[in-house]
Amino acid sequence: MSKNITLTMIKPLAVQQGFIGPILAKINENGFRIAAMKLLWLTENQAKQFYVVHKERPFYNDLVKSMSSGPIVAAVLENENAVDEYRKLIGATNPANADAGTIRKLYGTSLEANAVHGSDSDENANIEAEFFFSKLESF
Ligand code: CMP
Repeated sequence: MSKNITLTMIKPLAVQQGFIGPILAKINENGFRIAAMKLLWLTENQAKQFYVVHKERPFYNDLVKSMSSGPIVAAVLENENAVDEYRKLIGATNPANADAGTIRKLYGTSLEANAVHGSDSDENANIEAEFFFSKLESF
């Protein structure tokens, strides 16, 4: 089966709480290859642009504020069925509903500060990967 990619962000609160290492360990243990990675601090405008598909949702402004409140880690992960496999590994959007052992259950705090983002489709994974990384930064 061919490999494809997903885009993840370790969100500001999880970074502040010291969870970069444990989350990357989970990613590694579960067979994902890191194809690109960086630590960066999104501006409000960049967070708005990243989440533009949610711009009509009631949580949009709070999400943008939270995602631009501190540094994040963005990474492109490669695996077979990367989008679906990563969504299984991170668990439900709301950490309260996520299965035991998933990244959001272990490291998430709230619906907004749910530890990590994961792409929801192959198409969006490619768009999101290009948002953060040039060809020169992806391997
Ligand atoms: P993420 O995977 O980053 O994609 C969109 C984010 O919006 C989601 O994780 C949550 O952190 C946040 N969010 C806040 N409220 C909601 C909601 N009611 N439904 C879905 N996502 C929400």
